[in-house]
Amino acid sequence: MTYDMTHDLTHDMGTGMPPDTMLSVQDVRKTFTLHLQQSQRLPVLSGLTFDVPRGRCVVLGGESGSGKSTVMKMVYGNYGADSGRILLSHQGGVLDLVTAQPREVLAARRSTVGYVSQFLRAVPRVPALDVVAEPLVERGADREEARERAGVMLARLSIPERLWALPPATFSGGEQQRVNIARGFVTERPLLLLDEPTASLDARNRGVVIELIRERLAEGVGMLGIFHDADVREAVADATVDVHSFTAARQGSLA
Ligand SMILES: Nc1ncnc2c1ncn2[C@@H]1O[C@H](COP(=O)(O)OP(=O)(O)OP(=O)(O)O)[C@@H](O)[C@H]1O
Ligand SMILES: [Mg+2]
Repeated sequence: MTYDMTHDLTHDMGTGMPPDTMLSVQDVRKTFTLHLQQSQRLPVLSGLTFDVPRGRCVVLGGESGSGKSTVMKMVYGNYGADSGRILLSHQGGVLDLVTAQPREVLAARRSTVGYVSQFLRAVPRVPALDVVAEPLVERGADREEARERAGVMLARLSIPERLWALPPATFSGGEQQRVNIARGFVTERPLLLLDEPTASLDARNRGVVIELIRERLAEGVGMLGIFHDADVREAVADATVDVHSFTAARQGSLA
């Protein structure tokens, strides 16, 4: 499956957002300032441009250190960008994450952008079932109904019911990762960011994650992913962005 990832800016001069697109990254530059090293500047990305259409999965490729996680963190609003635009379809409008206010970023996370990180940030003493239900409760769902849906997700990911009432802090790496995936997929946010969600899973659970991804794509969710496993990548990717080709130093544009 292929599609045209280039922009036709004539479509929507008002927002610059191509139609049927969840995310449009346009000419983004990112430089880190190393405060511990005489404020030395480390240019990482320049001219970064790609779109994530609704119902498509775009994969970030490129060697270690090329900037894949940095792209994810900019799209989630954890890192700023020096310049360019990161346009998000959000509640019927368009939000530019490069210039968004912190409260707008938080609103975007609540209703529009989900993030499945590689590791679960385990909150002490909160049972696994509530860890998974929390994003639904945050969005105003009834707590019992949220816990019911959380249980369905945990069961699909083969987390035994005896573990649901326990905090995930003592779970195995793979169990924690599955709780994390359940939490990321339990809501229906229209853009999902997946940062190596299957790194410590066995083949069976990787298969479940592929199923979950495909279900969400069929519902029109846009996805941006980093996948360590080639089998997962091949099963879900509609397009690949080679982040390395936007690496600033390689382009001789040391700022
Ligand atoms: N907060 C930061 N401060 C300074 N430099 C950073 C920061 N985060 C990332 N970098 C640097 O930016 C570059 C890109 O890092 P990034 O983590 O995005 O790479 P990656 O493509 O995700 O690599 P990997 O495949 O190993 O996860 C690296 O040189 C890294 O050292
Ligand atoms: Mg990374």
